[in-house]
Amino acid sequence: MASETLGETAADRLPGDPTRRDLVERFIRVDHAGEYGAVRIYAGQLAVLGRGPKAPILQHMKAQEEHHVATFNQLVARRRVRPTALLPLWHLAGFALGAVTAAMGERAAMACTVAVEEAIDEHYQSQHARLGDDEAELRGTIERFREEELEHRDIGLENEAELAPAYRLLSAVIKAGCKAAIAVSERV
Ligand SMILES: [Fe+2]
Ligand SMILES: [Fe+2]
Repeated sequence: MASETLGETAADRLPGDPTRRDLVERFIRVDHAGEYGAVRIYAGQLAVLGRGPKAPILQHMKAQEEHHVATFNQLVARRRVRPTALLPLWHLAGFALGAVTAAMGERAAMACTVAVEEAIDEHYQSQHARLGDDEAELRGTIERFREEELEHRDIGLENEAELAPAYRLLSAVIKAGCKAAIAVSERV
């Protein structure tokens, strides 16, 4: 996936679509918001499960999310992107999602990770496909992070996410929430 040549960013742009710069700004804005929310999800899970046997893997995933958000913090500053106005909401909602799923049990916490990371995988794939060689650095960052998100998904699956109570419902609700959060954080 990383090796294909795609020409220019937003090469498929139609009249009325966001300009290349607008598009890249939206990408950075929403990715920054998402990585920020991800840190908060693991913080919420650790608030409940921080003394349990899953604490080290939650810490590991949280540390990677902190690196992701630090990278997007730098991009927001360097490229003068307006961050989403919804960071305070994601601060609370991320933590709440983490804490509530963790309170449902370790498996539900892992199911939350699997659902979130599947949504982010799709999201990063679609961004990657729209970025061209003129945005090779951002494209590379997204691809690297996507691989780590997939590692998180696999950790969730190895830790019995699918055995969580009402797994399919839980997963569907969380994924729908992620998609809604992505849609608003691109613009607002
Ligand atoms: Fe991440
Ligand atoms: Fe992640």
